[in-house]
Amino acid sequence: MKKRETTISFLEYSSKDDLPESDKMLVGEAVKAASGAYAPYSHFMVGAALLLDDGTVLRGANVENAAFPSGSCAEKTVLSYMVANHGSRKPVAIAIAAITGGIMTDDPVPPCGNCRQMLIEEEQRSGGPIKVILAGKSTVYVLDSSQALMPLSFTGRNLGK
Ligand code: THU
Repeated sequence: MKKRETTISFLEYSSKDDLPESDKMLVGEAVKAASGAYAPYSHFMVGAALLLDDGTVLRGANVENAAFPSGSCAEKTVLSYMVANHGSRKPVAIAIAAITGGIMTDDPVPPCGNCRQMLIEEEQRSGGPIKVILAGKSTVYVLDSSQALMPLSFTGRNLGK
């Protein structure tokens, strides 16, 4: 028997204003995306902005449904759109932000487990890391790769791919 450990490292900024310019731009796009959310049930409006390797930025937001499980998270919305419409490109970074009560949250928004799974699949499909920027007004976390969000994740390798 062996005891195994996994650790993740990430950057923490104490204001979104301290981010490098390109990350700040992507956070701004995520906030814009959040304003397009359809969230009449939770009133938690999430936006995700995905930067592609050709400089294109795609935006997605959460879209809720009266039958709750039929709703879609912001990350799922933008990743599905990306694969369907820009499948030959590589996504290089994603910024996630949320608005509640009309203002951006202070704390970073951590993606749900399902969205982490989708990010990891996309990293594997496109063959490169996707930087993750979890943005709050006062705190921002930046991870170099989506893989760090979900150790021991289920992947195509488990299916022999
Ligand atoms: N939500 C997202 O869009 N992304 C996340 O990573 C976390 C949660 C949405 C789902 C639901 O519409 C609302 O936030 C509250 O859970």
